[in-house]
Amino acid sequence: MQKSPKIEVISDLISNCTNCSLHKTRNYTVPGSGNSKAEIFLIGEAPGANEDIEGIPFIGRAGKVLDELLNHINLSRNDIFITNMIKCRPPKNRDPFKEEIFECSQFIDMQIQYINPKVIITLGKFAFQKFFPDKTMSESRGFPHQWKHLTVFPMYHPAAALYNPNLKTKMFHDFEQIHQILYKLVKSQKNHQIKLL
Ligand code: URA
Repeated sequence: MQKSPKIEVISDLISNCTNCSLHKTRNYTVPGSGNSKAEIFLIGEAPGANEDIEGIPFIGRAGKVLDELLNHINLSRNDIFITNMIKCRPPKNRDPFKEEIFECSQFIDMQIQYINPKVIITLGKFAFQKFFPDKTMSESRGFPHQWKHLTVFPMYHPAAALYNPNLKTKMFHDFEQIHQILYKLVKSQKNHQIKLL
């Protein structure tokens, strides 16, 4: 397999991307942020209005929920890398189109290859279906899935918790499971950075 460019180079490629029409309406691209050596890689859906202005993922209301969830298992943004399926905001926050996901997928593939995480947490159905296009969220969420050498852990999107407090409780529960998975990984591997709580 070809070696992936460094994370900063991937971000530059994203900034200059004109592969789909979203480049015409974006303010900033949102390549991703966090620790480029992270063992935990989170994937959301697409930037919203705040992210489009700042160029940073998950800084709006959904981001606050995400921070609460991370905090619940003693993780911070510095322990993870976080990005979205697509790197530019869709107008009026509509769902991403298939072609936009297709055009953008090269970037997430490069980011995963460069960072080489152990666990991928997918937030919402668009991210999960990258790995398991034939599975539904309702049957899969909250269970670890093996994808190549990686553990993929599907979760609801944190924005869903803004409208449904019951989901928030389930998400806290799911994050506790992630903690267990990380714990097992840490125990089975000598060279790790994942914190034991
Ligand atoms: N903000 C993001 O960066 N991604 C989402 O999926 C939602 C909000």
